[in-house]
Amino acid sequence: MDALQQAMASAAVDVEAVLQQVLESEDEPERRLLESMRYAALGGGKRLRPFLVLQSARQFTVSRKSALRTAAAVELVHCYSLVHDDLPAMDDDDLRRGKPTVHKAFDEATAILAGDALLTLAFQVLGDETTHSNPGVRCELIVALARAAGAHGMIGGQMIDLAVADRDVDIGEITRLQRLKTGALITFACEAGAILGRAGEPGREALRGFAHDLGLAFQIADDLLDVEGTAAETGKAVGKDATQGKATFVSILGPERARAQAGMLADQAVRHLAIFDENADFLREVARFVVERRS
Ligand code: IPE
Ligand code: IPE
Ligand code: MG
Ligand code: MG
Ligand code: MG
Repeated sequence: MDALQQAMASAAVDVEAVLQQVLESEDEPERRLLESMRYAALGGGKRLRPFLVLQSARQFTVSRKSALRTAAAVELVHCYSLVHDDLPAMDDDDLRRGKPTVHKAFDEATAILAGDALLTLAFQVLGDETTHSNPGVRCELIVALARAAGAHGMIGGQMIDLAVADRDVDIGEITRLQRLKTGALITFACEAGAILGRAGEPGREALRGFAHDLGLAFQIADDLLDVEGTAAETGKAVGKDATQGKATFVSILGPERARAQAGMLADQAVRHLAIFDENADFLREVARFVVERRS
């Protein structure tokens, strides 16, 4: 395991502990709901967004607890988005993170509610004073996450994603779609450290620029894996974008040019980090990881 993999694995363990804590099982009748939320959020995934929060926080003075709780909040939103993305009305997927999707393991109604409750919990976590002593910082985190997740962010992107199935789209439209669908939450993850650290504009701007390119590179890699990966590697069904007539970078550019584009974006992402010292080395390395990953 290289140093980045080790750091990501250790971040994942720490975030898992916070997720465990905020998802503690309760008594009936909510027990089944909590079980489905735990099923969706615990013990899986690359935990990339939490890692980005922790590493962006590392550029400033931020307590470990603040960074970890914020990291867990982003992951809760991400997990909710996956539960709903997999529903029959959306991508209709049976496999996620190597196990049956929530609506398969439980039922559709429970999956909808699990997603709703994971999303809501994220804001509860951010709003709690144990996340940060300064209410202004907590408010800023909440507003920024709401923007990233909402109609002009991730969900707006999910809507465009549905709208462009089975019709021709140009590269500009697909770029906008991907920036919203995936980029917005990744941008929040990178900016969160700056919010927690009450950083000045140069630091925030650098992280935003980094995330902007990283998010797009990340989604191109996801689209490439859908064409070239296996279910064993990715833990989800592959070949679905083509079957469902989804326009992606790969469907428009072809795999070779899409891969080149992702590589270029990763290099460009790293250049935004020039104002940071060696504390940002894991952020630099994660850009490579994002485009070279097999899962
Ligand atoms: C998958 O995200 C969904 C997209 C936004 C492309 P990840 O590839 O980060 O999924 P996990 O968290 O590792 O399962
Ligand atoms: C999902 O994109 C993006 C969100 C969940 C917001 P995809 O539909 O491409 O993700 P996978 O491939 O199912 O993980
Ligand atoms: Mg989808
Ligand atoms: Mg999907
Ligand atoms: Mg995909």
